[in-house]
Amino acid sequence: MQGNTDWWPNQLNLDILDENARNAGPMDEEFDYAAAFEELDLDAVKADIEDVMTTSQDWWPADYGTYGPLFIRMAWHSAGTYRTHDGRGGAAGGRQRLPPLNSWPDNVNLDKARRLLWPVKQKYGRKLSWADLIVLTGNVALESMGFETFGFAGGREDEFKPDDAVDWGPEDEWESSSAERFDEGGSLDEELGNTVMGLIYVNPEGPNGEPDLEGSAANIRDTFSHMAMNDKETVALIAGGHTFGKVHGADSGDNLGPDPEDAPIDLQGLGWDNEHGEGKGPDTITSGIEGPWNATPTAWDLSYVNNLLSYDWEAERGPGGAWQWTTKNDELDDAAPGVQDPSDKEDVMMLTTDVALKHDDDFRAVLEEFRDDPDEFQQSFAKAWYKLIHRDMGPPERFLGPEVPEETMLWQDPLPDADYDIIGEAEIAELEGLITEFDLSIADRVKTAWASASTFRHSDKRGGANGARIRLEPQRSWEVNHPEELESVLETYEEIQAEFNELRDDDTRVSLADLIVLGGTLAVEQAAADAGHDVEVPFEPGRVDAAQDQTDEESFEALEPDADGFRNYLGENLPHEPEHEMVDKAELLRLSVPEMAVLVGGMRVLDANYDNSDHGVFTNEPETLTNDFFVNLLDFDRDWEPVDEDEEVFELRDHETGEVDWTATRFDLIFGSNSRLRAVSEVYGAADGEEKFVDDFADAWSKVMTLDRFDL
Ligand code: HEM
Repeated sequence: MQGNTDWWPNQLNLDILDENARNAGPMDEEFDYAAAFEELDLDAVKADIEDVMTTSQDWWPADYGTYGPLFIRMAWHSAGTYRTHDGRGGAAGGRQRLPPLNSWPDNVNLDKARRLLWPVKQKYGRKLSWADLIVLTGNVALESMGFETFGFAGGREDEFKPDDAVDWGPEDEWESSSAERFDEGGSLDEELGNTVMGLIYVNPEGPNGEPDLEGSAANIRDTFSHMAMNDKETVALIAGGHTFGKVHGADSGDNLGPDPEDAPIDLQGLGWDNEHGEGKGPDTITSGIEGPWNATPTAWDLSYVNNLLSYDWEAERGPGGAWQWTTKNDELDDAAPGVQDPSDKEDVMMLTTDVALKHDDDFRAVLEEFRDDPDEFQQSFAKAWYKLIHRDMGPPERFLGPEVPEETMLWQDPLPDADYDIIGEAEIAELEGLITEFDLSIADRVKTAWASASTFRHSDKRGGANGARIRLEPQRSWEVNHPEELESVLETYEEIQAEFNELRDDDTRVSLADLIVLGGTLAVEQAAADAGHDVEVPFEPGRVDAAQDQTDEESFEALEPDADGFRNYLGENLPHEPEHEMVDKAELLRLSVPEMAVLVGGMRVLDANYDNSDHGVFTNEPETLTNDFFVNLLDFDRDWEPVDEDEEVFELRDHETGEVDWTATRFDLIFGSNSRLRAVSEVYGAADGEEKFVDDFADAWSKVMTLDRFDL
């Protein structure tokens, strides 16, 4: 069956916003996963997981009597899809059980790992999401093989639909890697997390399947940095992970049947049926590379690091036909036990990506440090693993369960506790009076509140108004925030804050974070009143102000928008047409299509363009919350003309006088040209549309202002 996206593949994809408007899963709206999780006896769950881990099943026998290494790989691949650029991917949602991830070539046989865990999932039902179970199982596996983990937090709710907003790259063939994925300098596109379609990070055989150590090291550094891992964390993760288990490639991958999404119905969601030998155990084919890394594949020790550093390795084709590395002159006689029968012996090997760590001077220095200081290795892997599996969970208050460490990490964007009383109704009224007395326009207050709150992204729950990080680097210097103008608005807010706080004889204080949101909310109410509408926009106090040293500047750079359709900000060299960037931002803000429409239409008449331009400000009464944006957009019976060949800015001229009546960007005009957006615009631009528009704007506005309020 041909759908609209088959007929018009370049159509603006608004479907990704539909997920924000409806619940695709079976859980009731009231279902509170955090509360359900807190009822679990985590020790009992862990004991059950360990039972499964050490009970080999005939249908998929465990290597060396434990599924531990397989389970670590499952957890790592679930978390390893995270990328800092948009915060998407990662372990949240349990999306490894949904396409495309369930069928990625890099996830071969992880379908078996999850199926082995079904009895545990079934036993705990809704109290334990797949997302949490997968990650927890990784920790239990490490602990069961002698590694002391740093901690575990639950709180990842399952999703029941793939995240179609994730950009996995341009290729339409698995395990391919096109030039489009990289910039001119050969670095991975900033938006992506992996160098090969369908692999978590990099090709284990080396770039394009060639055993090129330099290229492989560069790929590793590039991709791991997209997950905010530095050299030390990167080496700790790879060396720590490959201390356990083995790679599977008894024969070529040609023996494998279709992946789970394509597999016949009788396989019931399992894929990669293996026709080689018994199709399991020693005959397993996963990556197509074969062998263990060391002689003790189920114990935490230094054997991987020692093997890698102590021996010389040379490339050869393994039994599966893939490039792998063996010790030169067979000098290593430290063979590993067989997977089923310990008296069998298997030679150890390394992947190109492993040997690349030794080949690269900086990576090798870390390996040598770990060899000389095993405690440092232990600590580094524990912390890096903890970061890997929790990176997309947002602020510490979302971390649940008895195993959450006391220490808060900088990557969690910590906030201080309020050591004062939070403002209540009387104080809010007093502050509203003060804000009105000071010289802050409606537009300035709307812009600043938006700038503060709209950094939020639901993908990894970072950003948002709490913390008032808008007044800290790097945010206060972002072009989209119009730094000079922002500085003067912030100075005024600081004056208001000082005046309020210094005059009090009780313990109540206002944070700048609350004040910025309150100023914006009051501006919306005032602009609605000026248009003749009496609306109350909810305001929830309780935000605190973060300090600069609680803010990792480099990691916050990922939150800088490439474009912001809501403030009509077109960044430089956008990778996609601006309207796609707007929808993408709307998706990260959890907005539905109508919510995106009212916010853009409202921000325009509130005159909230980042640079005070007139683009899309289709009204003669700026700073008044009318539906003029939609009325005037739909009213035009003349042609818009692009001002230059970029076709990003357009103007509309009066036929008779030749004068420019309005100017607009693609962000504005898309609401008239795209059929779905036009259909929504018609509701708000109709004769009876204004009141509905104002109400819907107020709702959408307060939604954005509270996206990061996990405490409410
Ligand atoms: C297995 C590649 C990083 C943990 C494997 C396999 C490959 C691979 C090809 C073999 C799969 C099979 O045939 O069964 C890579 C590459 C990495 C990387 C290219 C990055 C450059 C990591 C990390 C961890 C990890 C960061 C965990 C912290 C494991 C484990 C196994 C494994 C435990 C053994 C699975 C088993 O015994 O069934 N890896 N890996 N790997 N990997 Fe990695």
